[in-house]
Amino acid sequence: MHDLQDSFWQTILGRRSIRRYRPEPVPREVIERLLTAAIWAPSAHNRQPWRFVVVTQPDGKRALAEAMARRWRADMMKAGLDEEEIENRVQRSQQRLTDPPVLVVGCITMQDMDDHSDEKLAEREYIMATQSLALALGNLMLAAYHEGLGSCWICAPLFAPEEARMALNLADDWQPQAVITLGWPDEERKSERKPLEEVILWE
Ligand SMILES: Cc1cc2nc3c(=O)[nH]c(=O)nc-3n(C[C@H](O)[C@H](O)[C@H](O)COP(=O)(O)O)c2cc1C
Repeated sequence: MHDLQDSFWQTILGRRSIRRYRPEPVPREVIERLLTAAIWAPSAHNRQPWRFVVVTQPDGKRALAEAMARRWRADMMKAGLDEEEIENRVQRSQQRLTDPPVLVVGCITMQDMDDHSDEKLAEREYIMATQSLALALGNLMLAAYHEGLGSCWICAPLFAPEEARMALNLADDWQPQAVITLGWPDEERKSERKPLEEVILWE
């Protein structure tokens, strides 16, 4: 069905979410190539509402991980989870953010999007901004795989956007949505997909 010799299909089908990385750094020019792939994604009205924070310094990664963990820990305590379980989860999640050589924090800004006084229209505009960012980050992850790098989408900033924004010293309008971890892979992963016919309605 697919020509697996074809590099496009190799990239599309071969990319997996990688959660273990080798410690070697990723050269800046490689990161810039990934970000170039990101900004060539389509975006609503071509407003390019995406912004990217590249975090490579250990202090920066730790500050981000700790800030988000504080919020997560508080939320889990409020939900009545067992303290040991909370600490285990927080530890694991912090390690996922401090081990990878590079974090790319994907943010949106609404500054150049249409400004609607109508709440429903404003919400659609916000959704279009996040959809645009998701396409950009998808491009970035595919480009990473094409370069031999592993990547994984981490949704934590969505649950602690203010904490992430403060930890990264971002301008008020930069809204963190996701972290993409990047690095040279130190694991092989498999993944499954639902069969095509289960997810399509032909009309
Ligand atoms: C919106 C979104 C949120 C995700 N959040 C996380 C996350 O917080 N932690 C994580 O380890 N993986 C996360 N993932 C990765 C998914 O688990 C992964 O893409 C899925 O299991 C399919 O595996 P594959 O990417 O290897 O094909 C997320 C992916 C997406 C698109």
